[in-house]
Amino acid sequence: MTVRELQDAIIKLKKETNTAILAHSYQAREIVEIADYTGDSYKLSVDATKTDADNIIFCGVHFMAETAKMLSPQKRVFLANKNAGCPMAEQMDKDLIAHLRNKEPDRTVVAYINTTAQLKTVCDVCVTSSSALKIVNAIENEKILFIPDCNLGAWVRDQCPDKDIMLLNGGCPTHAALTAKEAKAAKAEHPDALFLVHPECVPQVTHLADYVGSTSGIMDFARKSDAKEFIIGTETSIAEHLQYECPDKKFYPVTKDIVCRNMKITTLPDVYNTLTGMDNGEAFEILMSDELITSARKCIDEMIRLGG
Ligand code: 13P
Ligand code: SF4
Repeated sequence: MTVRELQDAIIKLKKETNTAILAHSYQAREIVEIADYTGDSYKLSVDATKTDADNIIFCGVHFMAETAKMLSPQKRVFLANKNAGCPMAEQMDKDLIAHLRNKEPDRTVVAYINTTAQLKTVCDVCVTSSSALKIVNAIENEKILFIPDCNLGAWVRDQCPDKDIMLLNGGCPTHAALTAKEAKAAKAEHPDALFLVHPECVPQVTHLADYVGSTSGIMDFARKSDAKEFIIGTETSIAEHLQYECPDKKFYPVTKDIVCRNMKITTLPDVYNTLTGMDNGEAFEILMSDELITSARKCIDEMIRLGG
């Protein structure tokens, strides 16, 4: 089967089964093309509440599908590739954060959405990279414990001098691997380009940026900007998608190495197999107890209340 034939078969099957496909922007072009909703973590979590499809297939990583399930518990939610996990989401366990809550009882615990549902049960509010600043500013308490990403947390802390933000030693291995030396080399190679960076990168890199923002923030900035050249300081797929969308501009990935293997593991055949396996137990369905959903969802609802 060609890619086009497989895409056509997927489009037919999703109509027949009343299924919506949600794809994070880090997915490959051929998956983005068959998705009903695409975007960053925040946009997709809101989109998950909008669809009236009976089934959702998530092309992204596990915590994203879990979030969709929590927001639409009456729907069946599937992860297209069961091995797609986010290493950052697994970095801190519930007991550690529960222990810290006891030690620092006057801090509001802010969790990046890249966390497991279990961990969310001991947090007060979630944030995504596009909503973190707004939400931290909207929290009345000055004292905050921000988990797990110390780079996103440091970026927020820089802009909220009135807040006392405690950070732990976690983060995205893909973004945190980018060095200031590599960023400076890309800027020297493309002196006319604007440097757009994701806040999961280390402060030494975000301090070199012309713009810092979430995946959707970077894409919107590049689309609207009058500039013609951009160095993209996030997953390499974003430079590819932007180049496709804006052929009159030039997009350079800051290095070819910012590749999230977990985001790239999902293939079109995975999506097809999920559609055909939903009713025979072969697809990977997100199953969560009502108790876990109720407990973990509170901080997602709080995110939507403060960030909406
Ligand atoms: P956003 O989609 O919120 O920009 O986050 C990027 C990311 O690393 C997702 O896992
Ligand atoms: Fe997790 Fe980083 Fe991959 Fe996003 S890019 S899924 S934060 S490892």
